Amino acid sequence: MTISAPAPRVPATAAGGGAQAQLEVSAVDKVYQARRGEVHALSDVNLSIGKGEFISLVGRSGCGKTTLLRILAGLLAPSSGTVTADGESIWRGNKRNDEAFSQFGLVFQDANLFPWYTVADNISLPLKLRGVGKKARRARATELCELVGLPGFEKAYPRELSGGMRQRAAIARALSYDPKILLMDEPFGALDALTRDKMNLELQSIHAQAGATVVFVTHSINEAVFLADRVVLLTPRPGRIRSITPVALPRPRSLDTETSPEFQEIVRVLRHELDEE
Ligand SMILES: Nc1ncnc2c1ncn2[C@@H]1O[C@H](COP(=O)(O)OP(=O)(O)O)[C@@H](O)[C@H]1O
Ligand SMILES: [Mg+2]
Repeated sequence: MTISAPAPRVPATAAGGGAQAQLEVSAVDKVYQARRGEVHALSDVNLSIGKGEFISLVGRSGCGKTTLLRILAGLLAPSSGTVTADGESIWRGNKRNDEAFSQFGLVFQDANLFPWYTVADNISLPLKLRGVGKKARRARATELCELVGLPGFEKAYPRELSGGMRQRAAIARALSYDPKILLMDEPFGALDALTRDKMNLELQSIHAQAGATVVFVTHSINEAVFLADRVVLLTPRPGRIRSITPVALPRPRSLDTETSPEFQEIVRVLRHELDEE
């Protein structure tokens, strides 16, 4: 099967090139008040993400990736700074703007499916919560099972699925209400290498078809480069953006892309930056 090339994306400029960014992070700081004192998790993070862009967020364990993603998702308030989605502020002080929040789809390392619900019911749960009728929910679940490579599994239960299949279902659930922005925190971290390769190919094609803006956290540099339009590298204590690297490799990318000199050069530079810490 060939997948047609996605439309050209927003140019990979850090400043957003004047066009309104879909997601804009300005001067974000996060200090956790922990029992053993303060933890300065993020410092002065600035990032402008264009519509349809795929951003990979990499960095060592503890450098603040999850913290940043949770702030973007509206799950955690920044200590200072602002985040806007389509120009709308996600945070008003410590209070979340629920309208902006409803544009997000979230996927975490653990699929978190309800074991007593079928795949279709899990996938369409967000639609149920939004008051969508049964027939429309069923149709959407079938469509999404196709999209994420789970055709015919609508009536299966999570325990009947492999880890990779459960993550596909979690992605389908996140896509069910057509989110404009998909936020993913190490969604394939628990999968074996072969399954992970496959999921990366699937995610690329889902991204091309669904057209959502994606922020994808991983600590695999290969995975980050393979998927991204730009790779954002965070450094720890406190978490800051060290570099933003555009990945201009043509799409769709195949596993052979990883053997190209361009790919390997980008990976080499990023590894080097990580090692310097
Ligand atoms: N709820 C919390 N309370 C206190 N410290 C936290 C909390 N969550 C994360 N941290 C600390 O903030 C830093 C960044 O954590 P995190 O965002 O989870 O990093 P990453 O996802 O890159 O591994 C770490 O030093 C971590 O220990
Ligand atoms: Mg994390």
